[in-house]
Amino acid sequence: MLAACTALVLGLVTLAVAPATRADDTARSATSAAAPAAAKKVIIDTDPGTDDALAILLALNSPELDVRALTVVPGNVTAQQGLENALKLASLTNRCDIAVAGGAQHPLFQKLITAELWHGANGLANVDLPPSKCKADPRFGPDLIIQMIHESPHEITLVPVGPLTNIALALLKDPSIVPLVKEVVIMGGSISGGNVNASAEANIYNDPEAAQIVFHAGWRLTMVGLDVGNKTLYDQAHLDQLSKTHGPENDFAVQVLSFLIGQEAKYGAGGGSPMYDPLAVGTAIDPSIVSTQPMHVDVESRGEFTRGETVANRHDTVERNALHGDRYIIEGVDHVEPNVEVCTGVKAEKFLQLLNSRLAGK
Ligand code: BDR
Ligand code: CA
Repeated sequence: MLAACTALVLGLVTLAVAPATRADDTARSATSAAAPAAAKKVIIDTDPGTDDALAILLALNSPELDVRALTVVPGNVTAQQGLENALKLASLTNRCDIAVAGGAQHPLFQKLITAELWHGANGLANVDLPPSKCKADPRFGPDLIIQMIHESPHEITLVPVGPLTNIALALLKDPSIVPLVKEVVIMGGSISGGNVNASAEANIYNDPEAAQIVFHAGWRLTMVGLDVGNKTLYDQAHLDQLSKTHGPENDFAVQVLSFLIGQEAKYGAGGGSPMYDPLAVGTAIDPSIVSTQPMHVDVESRGEFTRGETVANRHDTVERNALHGDRYIIEGVDHVEPNVEVCTGVKAEKFLQLLNSRLAGK
């Protein structure tokens, strides 16, 4: 599948390139937080997005992480709106030193589905952040990912929290990055039903072919899916706690979180808002927040009701059937190799307290 897709997809890469804007190195902030030497180098690939924004704030306020880049993928909002939002977030946090780059303009093989219902018309809960002081990096997001991985071999953790289009494009262009990546921690997928429909989670549904490429690349991949995200409900009590603190970032986070709690009460299950993308960042900060099980996971791309579903084999075996006359006979049981560490449990309140403390930190 990977080889078959390559030619077509590489053709699409040219179409997918974001309009370049000149990076202004002089605009790089002198106030940027120097990351401790032992901090984990991460690239966040994001479709900002309300919970993406919270995930970015969490990452940028966590000394365990050294955020090298924000690469933008279309998903919750268009590529253009996503880039504007990412730049505003870098500006809000005084982190113009971080590379913020646009990437793909649309999913590999389908039309983009945006999610203003859940994220607000501008993707940031309709909060009007000031224009960004930061400038976009002129590099194409997937190229930036490739370059940074080669510059820091075995050190970069990728944290994709949107559709996997940019990561798949990077893989298709340069498969040699696979052994050079430290690990990949994605928000996406589910082994117990979807949020878009009965079977699919939004990030995977928005680009199933890209997800299948990323899931089968052969690198260490942790799937922080809906199953655990749905247990991290940020509720009014958490919001009241955060609301006691103030600052430009805190105040923005409070507005976003109250929007999310409201939307969840209106359209969701209520009881608080799941912190999907922040949990993926939380897992990169402290992997002990989640428990995982290795599983073989494939992404369904053809099912009428199941396109975008992450299909997980929980027992690592498949029956081998062979045609004997007019019927198949089970001739044996074959082993399948796990390709994903699937999160199956989460210390939800521990994580939510970590999130609140980091959002309140400054
Ligand atoms: C995922 O979809 C998006 O709406 C969120 O930002 C999150 O990444 C949850 O399914
Ligand atoms: Ca997202």
